[in-house]
Amino acid sequence: MEKKHIIITGGAGFIGSHVVRLFVTKYPEYHIINVDKLTYAGNLANLKDIEDKPNYTFVKADICDFDKMLELMQKYEVTGIIHLAAESHVDRSIKDPFTFARTNVMGTLSLLQAAKVYWESLPEGYEGKRFYHISTDEVYGALQFDGTLFTEETKYTPHSPYSASKASSDHFVRAFHDTYGMPTIVTNCSNNYGPYQFPEKLIPLFINNIRHRKPLPVYGKGENVRDWLYVEDHARAIDLIFHKGRVADTYNIGGFNEWKNIDLIKVIIKTVDRLLGHPEGYSLDLITYVTDRKGHDLRYAIDSTKLKRELGWEPSLQFEEGIEKTVKWYLENEAWMENVTSGGYQRYYEEMYKNR
Ligand code: NAD
Ligand code: DAU
Repeated sequence: MEKKHIIITGGAGFIGSHVVRLFVTKYPEYHIINVDKLTYAGNLANLKDIEDKPNYTFVKADICDFDKMLELMQKYEVTGIIHLAAESHVDRSIKDPFTFARTNVMGTLSLLQAAKVYWESLPEGYEGKRFYHISTDEVYGALQFDGTLFTEETKYTPHSPYSASKASSDHFVRAFHDTYGMPTIVTNCSNNYGPYQFPEKLIPLFINNIRHRKPLPVYGKGENVRDWLYVEDHARAIDLIFHKGRVADTYNIGGFNEWKNIDLIKVIIKTVDRLLGHPEGYSLDLITYVTDRKGHDLRYAIDSTKLKRELGWEPSLQFEEGIEKTVKWYLENEAWMENVTSGGYQRYYEEMYKNR
């Protein structure tokens, strides 16, 4: 089989690291090029176990750097791109929307344009190529408590600067298919949880705070609803869709697993307390209601029927199993957490890349 060279952007982040690990180990015949700028959210320690594999290359680069993206595609004769690099935290987008427009919109555009220039320069053009863009359910806006679900036909109504930037990038990806014929695919996934998530997001932040007896800042009344999917199930869906998904199509990814924040937080407290040997209810006093997030979307819920019907994908883990695995992982990987929360990992990379 001809060797495939695939760029995965954002591979040092949370979901990206699971996708890189899956592709590097499952497809030894592929060459996986992880392109990541190593922002605060990028951490190569997430990939320690596969960094020496012969079919893996890491390149520290900014997706906004068009010349660099083109150079990499030419150098490695790239046939596929799985694009996860992004600024991903809603609270940061509320404070600093420019960074989100730069990376999520301009970065995606620069990657698309580089792929266009490179692939159109080849005799076979777009044949056998794929540009797969990873997006979010947040582009669909917010649902009420009425049982409705986001489908692939739901109108885009983003509310936060983060979701507005992701919506814009989704439109650019589709425009490159419609205008130039680039073989693109977009998927919109619900909230992910699992190992290696940066502890600014709800689940790892709260596990760490419970462990250290710190307050748990619940936004508003804790009544907002999110739909949670174990990260490895998302990575499996990405693998399936990259290989079998229909070009120019959109797939929603989610596990039909809605939780009201406060109920989820109580499950986390119960699990952490049990695993640390505390009596039930021990950490409930840490719950602290704080000012709500500005423009806080009430409810997200994904209908992933199409993905199941067309490609046979289903989540492999029940939520109880997934949350148990996740809590255990954070409790057993205190060194990883300590390295991230102290900023130690960033000083290490600054030193490592200083002279390159
Ligand atoms: P993350 O913040 O953990 O990781 C993002 C990665 O992108 C980091 O490694 C960072 O260094 C890299 N990056 C950021 N800016 C870059 C740039 N300019 N150039 C190159 N690399 C850059 O994010 P995540 O939670 O793993 O999300 C990955 C993707 O999945 C994002 O596109 C996000 O919108 C999408 N998504 C996330 C979730 C979720 O629940 N986390 C759900 C659905 C979709
Ligand atoms: O739905 C997919 C999205 O899920 C992804 O596109 C985003 O990249 C990802 O960050 C996530 O967005 P959320 O805003 O839903 O995730 P977050 O973990 O920040 O918050 C989850 C819920 O918990 C949300 O309703 C806000 C609330 N929350 C969050 C934090 C960090 C709190 O109540 N307190 C907190 O301290």
